Amino acid sequence: MRFLLFAVLTLHSIIVIGQGSDLPSDFLGKDFHRDRRQKLRETLPPNSVAVFFANPVRNRANDVDYTYHQDPNFFYLTGYRETDAILFVFKDKQKASSGTYDEILFTRPKNELQELWTGRRLGDAGAKEILGFQQAFNNSEFKRYNVDFSKFDKILFTDFENDVRNDPADSSDLYDLISQFKKKVSYPEKNKIALVKENSKNNLDTQSLESLLGTLRGNKTKQEIEMVRKAVSISCMGQIEVLKAMKPGMSEREIQGIHEFVFKKYQAEDVGYPSIVGAGHNGCILHYVENYKPEVSNKELILMDLGAEYHGYTADITRTFPINGTFSTEQKIIYELVLTAQEEAMRICKPGATRLQLNMICVEVIYKGLLELGITKSYNEGRKYFPHGVTHDIGLDVHDPTGSILEENNMITIEPGIYIPDNAKCDKKWWGIAVRIEDDFLITKDGYEHLSSIAPRTVKEIEDMMKLPSALDDFLLPALDKK
Ligand code: GLY
Ligand code: MN
Ligand code: MN
Repeated sequence: MRFLLFAVLTLHSIIVIGQGSDLPSDFLGKDFHRDRRQKLRETLPPNSVAVFFANPVRNRANDVDYTYHQDPNFFYLTGYRETDAILFVFKDKQKASSGTYDEILFTRPKNELQELWTGRRLGDAGAKEILGFQQAFNNSEFKRYNVDFSKFDKILFTDFENDVRNDPADSSDLYDLISQFKKKVSYPEKNKIALVKENSKNNLDTQSLESLLGTLRGNKTKQEIEMVRKAVSISCMGQIEVLKAMKPGMSEREIQGIHEFVFKKYQAEDVGYPSIVGAGHNGCILHYVENYKPEVSNKELILMDLGAEYHGYTADITRTFPINGTFSTEQKIIYELVLTAQEEAMRICKPGATRLQLNMICVEVIYKGLLELGITKSYNEGRKYFPHGVTHDIGLDVHDPTGSILEENNMITIEPGIYIPDNAKCDKKWWGIAVRIEDDFLITKDGYEHLSSIAPRTVKEIEDMMKLPSALDDFLLPALDKK
């Protein structure tokens, strides 16, 4: 074996990692991530290796970057939350001078100056000690990692679609790691389309990993279920606080702020996707993230689709409510039609049902209801007002990898909606009514557990909750223009 790094690097001094008690102690542990790698290894084809790249840092503007977020597959398999790293998971044991190994991680090196500016790094020693890797090296060593990749029947990886920038001052950043990898595996750079077609002629496989990881990630472990459960509970708390604190005249942004403040109060790191808070007609824009309306009018509904992300796992919950605390007749009719659709889908939600069936049952209820109300002139015109699917999996991604048939330990949403924009071709009494009801579910052995049930969902529950006082009622700030 030509790979001598192990012998050299086992002499490396072990650095004591500054990952002490100032970090939360309830991250998924190294045993979880090791177990996930083993499960992946079991599904890999014979004589293969799976390769994963950390997410790049993404630039926001000039010298400001977006807050770093790890690639979910990379996090799932390592627990590593930094950039400039590569993971190899081998089907079979590989020989090295110091023994055998079946996985290896290359990480960002420790760097006192960089850590002063941008925060702690685990380094190779931390990857061993904290993440439990037996073989972890600084990424500058990857150049010298001279395994013969031509010996594998398959090298599985996901093709490079990310915008990865080269830092000229760092010769081992993600950009360089990808370049070095491409060289090692003879990646046909000039003919990317041919890569897929030619998969049969070379040993590069850019197609299979997605479904292998999808199957694995769809089947949530006990620890993952607890993480999602926590993200969902936190998100429900946000919804509840807004219902209690809501007053006409609030802005969409302020409502978003209440949610996100509550999320942080419960130690959620982030939102799992940009928060959607749309009043009236704005609720008809499915991914409305501007949240710009400065003053929500007294008669409007508000659609709030927000999910906290807790230690990587995200919720996805939508509630719709009247700003003045009472649904109008038309708002109530549309709301209850959406609610009926959701409950019909919940009725058939269990292992063996297909995601398409959940979808179809909502379509039937809503298209029929819209026709009966005279909002549409034909059954299929319903699509105009209900243009999206009703279910997806949640987990490390808000839209997690998914299969077609529901299985125990899947975690999914059910989220029908009706969106009637201003100037729609129907009686104008319906204009500006946008309703989505979105809940999160764990599929159990013979049904489901409704994870987001504490967030009020029926008309009565919502109206009752809105009568209660909020801790934020007395949170008054001075006007900025006061002298
Ligand atoms: N929040 C995105 C979705 O509901 O799918
Ligand atoms: Mn959703
Ligand atoms: Mn959503």
